Amino acid sequence: MIAKEIESKISGGSLIRKMFDEGTRLKKIYGDDKVFDFSIGNPDLEPPKEVKDALIELANADIPGMHGYMANAGYPETRKAIADKLSKESGLSIGIDSICMTCGAASGMNNILRAIMEPEDEIILLAPFFLEYLNYISNVKGVPVIVNTDPDTFLPIMSEIEKAITPKTKAIIINSPNNPSGAIYPKEVLIELNALLKKQDHVIHVISDEPYIDLAYDGMTVPSSLACFDNLIVCFSWSKSLSLPGERIGYTCVSPNHKDFELLTQALVLCNRILGAVNAPALMQRVVAKALNAKVDVPNYERRRNLLYNIITEAGFTCTKPQGALYLFMKTPIEDTKFCEVCAKYNVLVVPGSAFKREGYVRLAFCVSEKTILGSKDAFEAIAKELGLKA
Ligand SMILES: Cc1ncc(COP(=O)(O)O)c(C=O)c1O
Repeated sequence: MIAKEIESKISGGSLIRKMFDEGTRLKKIYGDDKVFDFSIGNPDLEPPKEVKDALIELANADIPGMHGYMANAGYPETRKAIADKLSKESGLSIGIDSICMTCGAASGMNNILRAIMEPEDEIILLAPFFLEYLNYISNVKGVPVIVNTDPDTFLPIMSEIEKAITPKTKAIIINSPNNPSGAIYPKEVLIELNALLKKQDHVIHVISDEPYIDLAYDGMTVPSSLACFDNLIVCFSWSKSLSLPGERIGYTCVSPNHKDFELLTQALVLCNRILGAVNAPALMQRVVAKALNAKVDVPNYERRRNLLYNIITEAGFTCTKPQGALYLFMKTPIEDTKFCEVCAKYNVLVVPGSAFKREGYVRLAFCVSEKTILGSKDAFEAIAKELGLKA
């Protein structure tokens, strides 16, 4: 016997995973180059040179105890380097105590939720959102409250958020650049949201999930959340910035302006330990400290975003151009799961918006080869024609 909740999650499966399995099946029948799989957001670029250089240097360094346990929050040198970088970006004075090294954003988010949520506490999610949040929230017996964003810009609508706030609201999760919409929240929006939350008569934590912060296009930079929110906890990872998703490395950062700073920083370190991560990987903590200003080849992602965006819009589909992250979130002319079925007939695999709690759209991950993107043009035109978008 296993826990009922987990058993039901197993039988529910993941829509993204199902699309991936379908892709594998189709590739066996038609060959790799005849299947256009846009379903999985797995960063496909290699890490930048600084990562390899750091790994080689560290392998030769003979540092005693290099692979040993350390304080649960991580190495002080790494935390200091991160705190200094964030201080420069935000204009705040961020100290080492704000930073706890984590096993990626997923682990950071679980630490945060465990640290702040009581059973039955509510947490506001802005749809569309990364569906794993629901699993993390159910880990702490919290209650997700879903609020839609604007259907074209995917920016938060303050009046809708205000309506969703109750005495049980413990936190709101924001994610900019957003998976799946690619929206970047402008500074004014962050400031407005902070004002709305501070007007309430209890603390509402802002959890800013920022794994895509370095993937911004068209010369945009992502506004610093630390500069805009007070009761803020940042959740960051190098999965996308340095293409290291398998290495499980990230951090949480509590704003020095947070009302519960002292207790919260201690709570996050405790949760890192008691949820089983214990500490973030030792070697990777040293690597990221040496590669703090490096990034993957962002112009490469931007080029592929442009290629895929042009293909789908020229075929007749409607899509807001994403400003960041790795996805296009395209409107569907018919119900989204039916649209996915039509796409699959043409060997095109995409994920329905319902997998992000926003129906009427599909997500296309553009972290796939240029060959796949260019090869999909005829298929998108044929799909548009079948659905009557083009004569
Ligand atoms: C919005 C968002 N948050 C968190 C994560 C988890 O990232 P990590 O690999 O750092 O755990 C992802 C991964 O795709 C994501 O898209």
